[in-house]
Amino acid sequence: MTIEVTLGLVGVGRIGVMHANNISALNGTEQDRTLAQDGVQVRLKLTDVAEEHARSVAVSVGAEFVGSVEELIASGVDGLVIATGTATHPDLIRAGVDAGIPVFCEKPVAVNVAESVPVLDYIREKNGVVQIGHQRRFDAGYLEAKRAYEAGELGWIHSVRAVTCDMTPPPVQFLATSGGLFRDCSVHDFDILRWLTGKEIVEVYAKGSNNGDPAIGEVGDVDTALAVVTFDDGTVGTVSASRYNGAGHDVRLELQGSEGSVLVGMDEQMAVRSAEPGVGFPTGTPHLTFAERFDQAYRSEMAAFVELVRGQRKNPCTPEDAVAASKVADAAQESLETGVPVRVAA
Ligand SMILES: NC(=O)c1ccc[n+]([C@@H]2O[C@H](COP(=O)([O-])OP(=O)(O)OC[C@H]3O[C@@H](n4cnc5c(N)ncnc54)[C@H](O)[C@@H]3O)[C@@H](O)[C@H]2O)c1
Repeated sequence: MTIEVTLGLVGVGRIGVMHANNISALNGTEQDRTLAQDGVQVRLKLTDVAEEHARSVAVSVGAEFVGSVEELIASGVDGLVIATGTATHPDLIRAGVDAGIPVFCEKPVAVNVAESVPVLDYIREKNGVVQIGHQRRFDAGYLEAKRAYEAGELGWIHSVRAVTCDMTPPPVQFLATSGGLFRDCSVHDFDILRWLTGKEIVEVYAKGSNNGDPAIGEVGDVDTALAVVTFDDGTVGTVSASRYNGAGHDVRLELQGSEGSVLVGMDEQMAVRSAEPGVGFPTGTPHLTFAERFDQAYRSEMAAFVELVRGQRKNPCTPEDAVAASKVADAAQESLETGVPVRVAA
């Protein structure tokens, strides 16, 4: 017997196109073995205010174009996927919750924590189911690091070092409304650190610099930044990010423990070369973009959302989780602006 699950996607920009492709590919890929076994067929309907573009995306991924979000929801979709700009997330999340369907929304919940809180309250009041897009929770490397940590293979952790570097900056128009490097980029590291260690980050001390395109500074952002983070048990770590890493998209997490250390991102495609004579590793071509680096994670994330829609799994990333990571990002931004360490809001 075939079970049809229809997802409605709003927004087919940079990340929405990728989700459209991944949803359309769900029938017949590695990630959907469970779906295939259960005879699930995933169908996709999509919309975007940029209608012509959305129509062409729909044709290219074999989806149905729908004229508006209202029409999309009214057409009876089983789940709503939101991949529009951040400012639109709260209203669209509410629309999905009002329709009584599970929602997947790209991170973050809203442009800042203050605007996220009423959304969390609304979801809770209405018993909504909302998964937020922190795809690293599905990445094989982070999953293995979490397993090793939880199995006690690393002993107790004394230091963590997280790195996220884009190859080139996104458009300045995007940066102008992104909330800054910590909220846009390092928020993924803040989320994964909480998820992986089960510890809360309680204080952040951040510094940043602008030695690249002056336009980034003109819109109030930095192109490179580093935050010293302190966890609730006193463990310390650093979270650094840059928009300029010509060697490729560089994402790493080093967990150093009393018994052993692991490094997420140390594969043949890591965007770092050894300075040691005679060392050939890594031999592959580095990932160039976040889409390449996390291709498997984004696919697994969408497969997980289908399972959530079918009521077959726990929510893998709740809005509360996402807002907790955003609180750390807010503290980092405040520290960057004020030059002093900032306590993370409870
Ligand atoms: N998880 C990740 O790794 C990751 C990576 C990139 C972006 N994001 C998040 O994804 C979101 C989108 O980012 P992006 O870079 O794809 O942006 P984008 O500007 O490239 O795309 C947004 C799209 O949404 C459309 N849109 C805007 N408002 C709409 C509305 N009300 N109804 C229908 N369509 C609408 C726009 O026309 C555009 O095509 C942001 O919140 C961003 O933080 C997450």
